[in-house]
Amino acid sequence: MVLKLVVLISGTGSNLRSLLEASQDAQFPARVVAIGADRDADGLALGEEFGIPTFTVPFTAFPDREAWGTELIAQVRLWEPDLVILSGLMRLVPAAVVDAFSPHLINTHPAYLPEFPGAHGVRDALAAGVDQTGASLIVVDNSVDGGPIIAQERVPVLPGDTESSLHDRIKPVERRLLIQAVLDIANSHLDLKELAR
Ligand code: GRF
Repeated sequence: MVLKLVVLISGTGSNLRSLLEASQDAQFPARVVAIGADRDADGLALGEEFGIPTFTVPFTAFPDREAWGTELIAQVRLWEPDLVILSGLMRLVPAAVVDAFSPHLINTHPAYLPEFPGAHGVRDALAAGVDQTGASLIVVDNSVDGGPIIAQERVPVLPGDTESSLHDRIKPVERRLLIQAVLDIANSHLDLKELAR
């Protein structure tokens, strides 16, 4: 089965790039069918580079999170995805989005959940002075980064690490976890419905 993926971003989309590169291999069992963003994200340029359609549902153009979510659902549904990936979408999605797509709605997070949930997982790990943090891939539910864990891996915090040096070491791990999960879902080795039960 070739999975149809919609990937939602807010930032540079480096994790998205790794998925796009992986799916250039004809054997890879998934294709990104559309890239969506909540703002004018730099990563939307990857759409042009890889010939993938993009759409933007600007958060600030809607009166509230619910109205934004309604339009986001409509835009994502147009692509009939098997899996929706939040890859650096820096917004909490409203419950209607979770209801529409979960458990086929997954999120990458730059910490070893349940440690350091929220928008500043890397910064919070550094501030806490821990000697290891990590990367996690989860099913999105109505909590903040509290959904079922699909995969996670530890990443050491090194002396002298800054938020950016640590994040740069975490991201390749996030990418690996994400690509492996996409492979496992496509090959029926991972059943998100079962995991989220
Ligand atoms: C990733 O670390 C993701 O987990 C976090 O934001 C980062 C996105 O990076 N939520 P990029 O846009 O893929 O470079």
